Amino acid sequence: MNTPYWVAGQAATSDDVVEVRSPHDGALAGTTSNASADDVERAIAAASAVAEEFAALPAHARAAALDHVSRRLAERADEVAALITAESGKPLKWSRMEVSRAVSTFRWAAEEARRFSGDLQRLDTDPAATGRMALVRREPRGVVLGIAPFNFPLNLVAHKVAPAIAVGAPIIVKPAPATPLVALLLGSLLAETDLPAGSWSVLPVPNEVAGELVEDPRLPVVSFTGSGPVGYGILDRVPRKHVVLELGGNAAAVVCPDWTDLDWAAQRIATFAMYQGGQSCISVQRVYVHRDVYDSVADAVVAHVRKLSTGAPDDPATDVGPLINEAAARRVESWVEEAVAAGARVLTGGTRSGATYAPTVLADVPEGCKVVEEEVFGPVLVLAAVDSVEDAFAKVNASRFGLQAGLFTHDLRVAFQASKRLAVGGVIVGDVPSFRADQMPYGGVKESGTGREGVHAAMEDLTDPRVLVLTGLDL
Ligand code: SIN
Repeated sequence: MNTPYWVAGQAATSDDVVEVRSPHDGALAGTTSNASADDVERAIAAASAVAEEFAALPAHARAAALDHVSRRLAERADEVAALITAESGKPLKWSRMEVSRAVSTFRWAAEEARRFSGDLQRLDTDPAATGRMALVRREPRGVVLGIAPFNFPLNLVAHKVAPAIAVGAPIIVKPAPATPLVALLLGSLLAETDLPAGSWSVLPVPNEVAGELVEDPRLPVVSFTGSGPVGYGILDRVPRKHVVLELGGNAAAVVCPDWTDLDWAAQRIATFAMYQGGQSCISVQRVYVHRDVYDSVADAVVAHVRKLSTGAPDDPATDVGPLINEAAARRVESWVEEAVAAGARVLTGGTRSGATYAPTVLADVPEGCKVVEEEVFGPVLVLAAVDSVEDAFAKVNASRFGLQAGLFTHDLRVAFQASKRLAVGGVIVGDVPSFRADQMPYGGVKESGTGREGVHAAMEDLTDPRVLVLTGLDL
């Protein structure tokens, strides 16, 4: 069956049929079609027309719709996880995790929709404002264009859709061309709700068409998750729009000498450098280990990485599956080759089979190599010894990215220093940088982006404060 796309809440198809195939073995995951130009226009016009009505929809109605989607995702979790795996090659265990996160994302959005009330600010702090009070309400900035990546084809779509619905902003989602099916399934759950027609659309379109959407003045907010060049291309194209960019990173973990359970740290590092084939913006890519414990940590990381099983993504035992396509695996291979040619040592891995790149640990990687400087987005981990926490912090910061960092220490003072001194959006103490709870603010500094997701943070981002000053009050 040709999975329909969603135009203003209605199912539609076109003649431009798209086959979606597994990167693992080319098996057909499903078919859909690219939205026609007429349907794209219908979706934008409907979103624009419904914006005022949607912003006025009571919180209980928005929350009910979000709760419904959360519930239905939970009920259909096995099917949804299988579809994520079929279209993206993500190992089933990680697809299941993604579904349960999306259940939470929608549930949180329902809760936030109920309590998103704005602020009350007293103004009588100066004589001139005696008897005055400000109500700071928030109103949607307008229709949102959400452009989602392939690596979390459900939950990163959820992070566009759920906050938009929670604040009453119509949204048009463009799923990643490689992974549209689960976003379309999400559309079928939204279609079960009473949300007004026009308040949401899910439109698979080729990336070239996305440029036209980005420029359309009826879509004043663009929320993009994906690569830096594309993200900054959007910002350059529409500098006057409100643009949220969730871009890449080369996340680092620091292991301090006081950390007691080194084997646990090593196991977490191994798992979260390789999960989803490293295709997460916060997968562990660089690890800075204090010299006193470097050998133990390096040995344990390698041992844990060797235990990871690669194979068919639909096998629940598989830890590491393919990358999104063979070209991606070839790129990772060439970056590792570049590092090895420059003097790096391969401690394990370093081989490719089709779209699958073996979980790989490198040491002695010279500065300037792409596996350190760029975002690998593959199952490659670089280990390095450092002489002090200061040395480690300097190395973490010697990156043009700044998404999250992990810090294995028991020392609260070091944790606070990290939070102040590391140029990243978040520091995870006692774990890898890959930890993300869907309600927490998530986003980066430097070239990792601008703006924040995480349900409440995104709701603030999608709305403008509107100040209402009341005078003559008996405060
Ligand atoms: C990302 O890759 O940016 C998202 C990571 C996550 O949601 O865990």
